[in-house]
Amino acid sequence: MKKFKKVFAATVAASMLISMAGCGGTSSDTAEATTESTASADGGSEEAPADLTSNEGILIWATNAEFPPYEYHEGDAVVGIDAEIADYIGEQLGLEVQCEDMAFDSIIPAVVSGKADLGIAGMTVDPDRLENVNFSDPYVNAGQVIIVADGSDIASADDLAGKTIGVQLGTTGDQYVTENITDATVERYNKGFEAVQAVQQGKVDAVVIDGEPAKQFVASAEGTMILDEPLTEEEYAIAVSKDNEALLEEVNRILAEMQENGKMAEITNKYLGDDAVSTDEASAEEGSDEAVETTTAA
Ligand code: ARG
Repeated sequence: MKKFKKVFAATVAASMLISMAGCGGTSSDTAEATTESTASADGGSEEAPADLTSNEGILIWATNAEFPPYEYHEGDAVVGIDAEIADYIGEQLGLEVQCEDMAFDSIIPAVVSGKADLGIAGMTVDPDRLENVNFSDPYVNAGQVIIVADGSDIASADDLAGKTIGVQLGTTGDQYVTENITDATVERYNKGFEAVQAVQQGKVDAVVIDGEPAKQFVASAEGTMILDEPLTEEEYAIAVSKDNEALLEEVNRILAEMQENGKMAEITNKYLGDDAVSTDEASAEEGSDEAVETTTAA
């Protein structure tokens, strides 16, 4: 917490307010904060057509806030890179932004059913997912990495065969290990950090997870480290219902604008610049480190 305060001391109160409007507080707080942020926008807001989202005037984004620095809890609020992107999109469309925090594997069903308008969750564009949702243009290059305990005999992906490997349920890390590592026993956790705690405690031999959260988690889990070589190259994008081409177009337009006007760089620098995010919150969080599902990969 201390570190968070220090790093974010310079953050303008207004932008904190806008971020928190995304997922915390009561609905009336949210409405108030959103109204303020919309009113203070630099004239860039546009009125969205009434049927652009499932609930008129509201943009609901689904996420799994166990993935710093993209989305994580800060008190009652969900904050992070994706939270700021969601808030910016809402602001540009003149919509009130609401966040639904859920299990990672519930996000795509929520978008498909219209319970959420957008899935923004450090979500990798992937052929299986593309059967169910559309993805926006990508906004981050990412990849899976391997986390091991200090002194582990696992030095590269070649050493993973036959090992017990922790992943977050339903992620591309889960998919990669399940499909590519011979004779691996796959332990699937609801939260990535629980998998890292399991490697710390010697319950699993390695964890396969996205690179940026891996840095955050390893910093909070003494005796763990990330192997140098990334396993995969992936791109994160925003999931949108196949029935909502209009929203997809708006999202792509706004993402392009954010690249051009420096907003995307500003947001990512804030969280990825020099060790910018604390995971004290994550390490303090209660949670069972029991895996929810185990299988042996083919
Ligand atoms: N990039 C990975 C995937 O798409 C992991 C994303 C996990 N995100 C989260 N918010 N927990 O499967």
